[in-house]
Amino acid sequence: GSGKADGARGLRFTPVAPNTADKVTVPSGYSQNVVIRWGEPILRGAPAFDSEKQTAKAQASQFGYNNDFLSLLPLRGERDRQVLVANHEYTDEVLMFRNYDAANPTREQVEIAWAAHGLSVVVVQEEHRTGRLAPVSRHHLNRRLHTTSAFQVTGPAAGGDLLRTSADPEGRTVLGTLNNCAGGTTPWGTTLHGEENFNQYFANGSSATDKRYGVGTGATERKWERFDKRFDLKEEPNEVHRFGWVVELDPYDPDSTPRKRTALGRFKHEAAQPRLTADGRPVVYMGDDERFDYFYKFVSSKRMKKGNSRAVREHNLTLLDEGTLYVAKLTGDSPAAEIDGTGKHPTDGEFDGSGVWIPLATGDVSHVPGMTAEEVYVFTRLAGDKVGATKMDRPEDVEPSPRTGRVYVALTNNTDRGKPGKAGADEANPRNLNKHGQVLELAENWDDPSSDGFAWRLFLVAGDPNDPATYFAGYPKEKVSQISCPDNVAFDPHGNLWISTDGAQLGSHDGLFGVATQGERRGELKQFLTVPKGAETCGPIIQDRRVLVAVQHPGEIDGASVENPKSEWPDGPGRIVRPSVVAVWRTDGRDIGV
Ligand code: FEO
Ligand code: CA
Ligand code: CA
Ligand code: CA
Repeated sequence: GSGKADGARGLRFTPVAPNTADKVTVPSGYSQNVVIRWGEPILRGAPAFDSEKQTAKAQASQFGYNNDFLSLLPLRGERDRQVLVANHEYTDEVLMFRNYDAANPTREQVEIAWAAHGLSVVVVQEEHRTGRLAPVSRHHLNRRLHTTSAFQVTGPAAGGDLLRTSADPEGRTVLGTLNNCAGGTTPWGTTLHGEENFNQYFANGSSATDKRYGVGTGATERKWERFDKRFDLKEEPNEVHRFGWVVELDPYDPDSTPRKRTALGRFKHEAAQPRLTADGRPVVYMGDDERFDYFYKFVSSKRMKKGNSRAVREHNLTLLDEGTLYVAKLTGDSPAAEIDGTGKHPTDGEFDGSGVWIPLATGDVSHVPGMTAEEVYVFTRLAGDKVGATKMDRPEDVEPSPRTGRVYVALTNNTDRGKPGKAGADEANPRNLNKHGQVLELAENWDDPSSDGFAWRLFLVAGDPNDPATYFAGYPKEKVSQISCPDNVAFDPHGNLWISTDGAQLGSHDGLFGVATQGERRGELKQFLTVPKGAETCGPIIQDRRVLVAVQHPGEIDGASVENPKSEWPDGPGRIVRPSVVAVWRTDGRDIGV
C-alpha cells in the first residue's frame, strides 16, 4: 500500500495492513462501535440475552445469528433514525450451545436454531455528531422473520404442482426462509433476500433435481428432520422446492407477509440487486453461488410508480412477478491458446469479450426446449444447463454502479476449475484451481439494462499483487492492497466500489476494501478494515459518514466450541463469541475517505 491518506475521493484513508488480529481493525483516525449482537432484544417483551439460558421463544424476539446482508433505509419523521434490515444466514450450533452434542440435538436447540435464522428489521438511532448507531428496541417497525414465519409464494410458479405439500395443498404459503445470504435494496423501498445454501436443511433427497441442487441423500448435519418431517424429503419431496428463492420484504409495513418471487428463478441465490430501465422497469441481477454455476437477470414487464400511497406501494409489490428470466453466456475475444489456465494476461491486453442474455421463461411461456415454464422457474439450474450458459467461478454478490451503469459481479473462487472432468479455464474464469477469485465488469449494450447483449471484462483478478496472475484494472500493482475471495460488493456515494471478502487465502483475515472504478486511480484498491478470527466480512454499506459491516461467523475455526473458543470477539475473554454488526466513522466527524 501507499501508506499515505491520498487516493480517489472517498478512498483517502491509510490502508489497513493485512493482519490476524482478533478484532475489527480500522484506519487511523476512524472509530467503531458494535451496533447490535446476536441475541440482543429487539421486539417488545424480548428478554436480555443469556447464552446459558437461551430459549426459542427468546430467540424469536432477539437479533438472529450470523448476520450477512444489511440494508439501511430512511425513516421519515424520526430524527437521526434509520431502518436496519439484516439477513441471518445460518446457525453454528457448536458456537451457540455449551456441550453441544451434534449427534443428538435437543428439540429446544433445534427450535432456537429455527428462530435464529431468517431476517431482522430493527430501527437504529444515530448518536449526535458521531457515526455510532444503537438499536431502538421495541420500535413498532422492528420485526423477526424466521423458520416458522409465513411467507407468500407469488409469480408464475406459485400454486403449481411442484410447490404443493401436505401442509400447503395450495402451494402458496411457505413456513420460513433459510440461508439468506446477500440481498439488495429496491428503488421502491423494499429489500430482497437471497435464499442460498438451502440444500443443507433437507434430508433424504433422491431425485435428479435434488442432486443438481446439492441435496444430500442421508441425514442432515443439524438433524432438523427429526423434529419437523417437512425437512425429510422422503415425507415431503416438494418442501425443498419452496426454498432457493428471492424473498421481497416491505420493512415499512410490519404486518406485511414477505413474498417469495418465483419469476426470479430457483437456485442458490446469493444476492439480487435491481436497477431501472429508462422507462422505469426493474432489472434484477442475480448470481448462483456454486462452482460452475450461472449468472442471471430478470427484466420486469411492469413500470415502477413513484410515490408513497398505499396504491403505489401495492403496485410496486407486483413488479417482480411479471417479466423474463435470462441467463448469461460469455464469450472471450482473445486467441483460445492464450487462455491457458495460469491467469497470464492475453496479448490483446484484457480478459474481455461479449455476452448474450439467453431468455429462459416469460410468465407462463418457456423458452427452453423440453421444459415447461414451471419447471424453468423451479429447476432453473437445469434450464441454464440446457441452453449452454457459461459456467462461472461462483457468482456471489452483484452491484450496478449508480454512476456508470456498469455491473460488478464478485466471482469468489473455484478451486475445482480445470480439475479432471471439470470445465477448464475460459476468458471470464481464466485461472484453473482458482483460489482467489475475480471481479467482472459488465456493460449492457447501449447501457440499456433490458438489453439482450453486453460487453464484459475482468476488473480485478484477485490475489497477492506480487503474483503475476493478478490484475487491478491496469493500476500499478505495487500501490494496491492484497485481496482474496471477493464476496459482497457495494458502491459509496462517490462511485467507488467496495468489496468484502470471505475465506481469504493469503494468510491474513478477511476484510473490506474500496477501489475506484473510474479515472486515473481506477483499480487502486485499498483495504479499509479487517475482521476478527474466523469471521467473514459481510453486508457492507457505505454512507457519507458511516461504514457498516456485518461480522459473520467470528470464531468459526475447526475445533472451536463454546468451551474452547478460538475468538474473543466482540466482548473479550470468557464471553461467548457473537456475530454482530459494526459501524465505523471518522473520529473527526467528517465524511468517510474525503
Ligand atoms: Fe453465503 Fe455465497 O455466500
Ligand atoms: Ca481479450
Ligand atoms: Ca456471501
Ligand atoms: Ca461467501
